[in-house]
Amino acid sequence: MTAIQINGVVKIYRGNVHALQGVSLEVMDGEIFGLLGPNGAGKSTLVKILMTVIHATKVSGAMLGKPIGDRLTLQDVGYLPEHHLFPYYLTGKQVLHHYGALAKVTRNDRKTRASKLLHRLGLSGWENKKVGTYSKGMLQRLGIAQSLMNDPKLLILDEPTDGVDPVGRREIRDLLAELREEGRAIFLNSHLLSELEMVCDRVAIMVKGLVRMQGTIDSLTKDSKRYEITISGAIPDWATACCDEIQNNTMIIRGDDPLVIQPMLDRLRVDNTTIISVKPVRENLEDLFMRAVDNKDTPGAAQ
Ligand SMILES: Nc1ncnc2c1ncn2[C@@H]1O[C@H](COP(=O)(O)OP(=O)(O)OP(=O)(O)O)[C@@H](O)[C@H]1O
Ligand SMILES: [Mg+2]
Repeated sequence: MTAIQINGVVKIYRGNVHALQGVSLEVMDGEIFGLLGPNGAGKSTLVKILMTVIHATKVSGAMLGKPIGDRLTLQDVGYLPEHHLFPYYLTGKQVLHHYGALAKVTRNDRKTRASKLLHRLGLSGWENKKVGTYSKGMLQRLGIAQSLMNDPKLLILDEPTDGVDPVGRREIRDLLAELREEGRAIFLNSHLLSELEMVCDRVAIMVKGLVRMQGTIDSLTKDSKRYEITISGAIPDWATACCDEIQNNTMIIRGDDPLVIQPMLDRLRVDNTTIISVKPVRENLEDLFMRAVDNKDTPGAAQ
């Protein structure tokens, strides 16, 4: 079963704002899926549609095997909204109980889950302090704890590491991996590309309400694999003919087969050329992101 599968989702806000222009994507069971895109791409709009916070202009697809919009399904979904606000006068523990009750979690389960989650999110010792005294990162941790109160099969997190320091971000990353091990699917939005790269099984890049790329980072960056050989001095004429591109003292050979570059290295050594470095290189998520944002020719690009 797929955790989320949507086809051609459209959202036009009042004022003729075309926030989503036909978004299709698939989140598999038990995977961490990252949705990235620049500000205003439509990421939160999509999440809000999945959570029935707003209505889509057009939507078809399913979440946990039920049509999008099915309210009962939401009992199995954990949600961390962007810019969430908790009543400042409640304690961390009270917040979890409150949201657990809203999700119809029994009193006993609320009690055990709240103390476990506060501990798991590094908030031990703060459970009885008012959230008005929490730092931004602590509020975010509490938000993640809140999203887990109903023991969800699917977690939808809008910018989960917003405002969290590097140590906290790492802890959240580790937590997400643990939650995946427990068999939960995780759908998250983030701008933090290197972070997504570390934790996501698959990603989609959304620009102006359209998904420009979708897949594993490995498959999306496969075509960019290359070797870069840097030598001291000018590139000899024979080498110019053997490589795909030259940048100053660096020869670029596309592909990922190390056998292809061996004869070049042999000949460079015979020529007594000093080889400074031989590097296998591939695009990272940031390169992909930049390409998706810049590339107006990508099929399905926004008009
Ligand atoms: N309630 C609304 N009414 C009108 N337009 C809206 C509304 N909410 C969002 N938009 C517009 O829809 C587009 C998508 O916004 P959305 O918040 O989904 O983007 P996002 O990808 O989550 O951005 P960010 O990375 O900044 O959180 C933007 O152009 C935004 O201005
Ligand atoms: Mg957003």
